[in-house]
Amino acid sequence: MFKKIISIVLAALMICACLTACGKNGASLADVKKAGVLIAATSPDFPPFESIEGGEVVGIEVQILKLICQELGVELKIEQMDFDSVLTGIQTAKYDCGMSGITVDEDRKKNMLFTDPYYNAAQVIVVKADSAITGKADLADKTVSVQTGTTAESGCQDAKIAYQGFNANADAKAALTTGKVDAWIVDNLTAIQMVEEGDGLTILEEKMTNEPYAFAFAFGSEDLVAQINTIQEKLIADGTIEQIFADFGETYVKP
Ligand code: ARG
Repeated sequence: MFKKIISIVLAALMICACLTACGKNGASLADVKKAGVLIAATSPDFPPFESIEGGEVVGIEVQILKLICQELGVELKIEQMDFDSVLTGIQTAKYDCGMSGITVDEDRKKNMLFTDPYYNAAQVIVVKADSAITGKADLADKTVSVQTGTTAESGCQDAKIAYQGFNANADAKAALTTGKVDAWIVDNLTAIQMVEEGDGLTILEEKMTNEPYAFAFAFGSEDLVAQINTIQEKLIADGTIEQIFADFGETYVKP
């Protein structure tokens, strides 16, 4: 009897866990239109895609998503958090949209929806100017810093590279400048933006990965994603997205 109750309780718990983890409660197009607002979760430590200026979140993705919201006829509301919380917040449908230079990757696709990619980035290795490290091959016996939850972290796990994870990108960079790690792995445009003259840092030539960026949504938001894909396709085709990159001094790389 007791065993039976335990197994029923366990089964119920597993169903609950699945409802949270693989729930399909993402906002539909109608939900978002009714609310009149799209709530985007972001980790604004990722220039030129999202960063804070004068207390406001600004960047390439903010511009793109604002235009998408305009076409949808809704307001864009931005919530700030660590990158890792963006991913879990989307997975659990706490927010409508993940706007965080999110790379489309197969593991993440098991837990969330992605729009079509709108840009192709890459990961790079940043080292101290006097470092002997010249590429990925030299990282085998070294320790690198990464932002927690990113593809830089999963890339290190896959390649068995020792790493230290940091919630904030600035702290991942600081770990390198203060000599706690031998290299910092981060996305290419962000590396260029965050490495300043006087830091004594160099960005290595070698591209570690291909990182197609897209906006992320919870399962259940299929029709919303389809509508956004149509809008995004138009913004790519008519050169609007390329112009946004140009406005931020960047060259657009079509995925
Ligand atoms: N593209 C990488 C990823 O998806 C890093 C993104 C970090 N984004 C941020 N806003 N800090 O894992």
